[in-house]
Amino acid sequence: MKIGILKEPEFENRVALLPDHVKTLIDLKATVSIEKGAGKKSFFADNSYNEKGAEIVSREQVLNDSNLIVSIHHLSTDEYKKLKESQAVLTAFNPLFNSNIVKQFVESGITSFSMDMVPRTTRAQSMDILSSMATVAGYKAVLEAANHLPSFFPMFMTAAGTIKPSKVLVLGAGVAGLQAIATARKLGAVVEAFDVRSAVKEEVQSLGAKFIEVEGALNDSNAGGYAVEQTEEFKQKQQQLIQEHAKKANVVITTAQIPGRKAPLLITKDTVENMMPGSVIIDLAASTGGNCELTKNNEAVEINHVKIIGNSNYASAIPSDASKMYGNNIINFMKLIIDESGNLKLNFTDEIVRGTCITYNKEIINERVKSNK
Ligand code: NAI
Repeated sequence: MKIGILKEPEFENRVALLPDHVKTLIDLKATVSIEKGAGKKSFFADNSYNEKGAEIVSREQVLNDSNLIVSIHHLSTDEYKKLKESQAVLTAFNPLFNSNIVKQFVESGITSFSMDMVPRTTRAQSMDILSSMATVAGYKAVLEAANHLPSFFPMFMTAAGTIKPSKVLVLGAGVAGLQAIATARKLGAVVEAFDVRSAVKEEVQSLGAKFIEVEGALNDSNAGGYAVEQTEEFKQKQQQLIQEHAKKANVVITTAQIPGRKAPLLITKDTVENMMPGSVIIDLAASTGGNCELTKNNEAVEINHVKIIGNSNYASAIPSDASKMYGNNIINFMKLIIDESGNLKLNFTDEIVRGTCITYNKEIINERVKSNK
């Protein structure tokens, strides 16, 4: 099988696979080609791919000649139109929302995999791009906040006086939130965190942060480790408590999400107006509407001397390591779909293959996408 790696769009610094990943694919008996300059912005030159056995080709050649086309961001519908029925694509195209792309793949008979659909199970953890990229985002969010803050993160006792440590409030303690807590603690901040799932309390505390509790959350033990929609009464109590803590925080990092829904609103306009001048909000949920009422996706705004930053692609800001993690996730998944001769072989009795493959043989394979129709 010929695997082709594409260069990502202009706004993206990452690349789907690094030279070492190419070597792994060649060991798995596949051949690999890569679009010229694909790794450049992650600091991997064409010759480093060439040395590991990849052929450097044009975009057209990747699209025409590959049996499996690999990229992080999905292609345009025009490019998909040019693909042949015998080809497969492995990307992340959010098939639960982009039903037009799913339809296009079904009609043209293209086999498609969407890495954002890897089931969130223990066995699939090493393939989970959402978790690995959330780790990157949680870390970078704290660094960005520290850059914008007019104060230090750690406490300093100097001849020029004592500096108090900054207070960081993290909302949502999933993958991104826990990484944000750990990073803020390492920088010496005093950290508080809040999540509707009380199961994360111990994890938060073990990272040295204080867990803020709101009484009366609905039971989420059957939600597969995710949060569930809460009652109006709970939401009001929660908003009040968040406001009390946000008022005293120098930095608020919001990461709350409920899968498949708009991000829950946790920081209202009123809360922002009550925050200290110079404080910073980093809203990681910006792309799904934001946890803060005033967030603008992929923009930084300043309201009442409070900066609100809604960058929804932090992974691109750490392109070398983010690409390494992303590529490791892809390689771990590919090992499930490549046979001993280096060809594509799909075992649909495997829940990870079934959960990540979206279309095959002019049919929707994925149950979640099927029932979403
Ligand atoms: P996750 O699902 O692991 O964590 C989300 C957490 O939010 C869960 O612990 C959940 O219980 C909590 N939560 C849900 N509703 C809440 C509420 N009302 N109040 C408090 N907590 C609540 O998700 P993950 O992977 O950590 O991602 C977090 C967010 O970061 C998502 O919105 C995701 O899209 C975003 N993200 C942003 C990136 C960026 O570059 N800006 C990159 C990766 C992820």
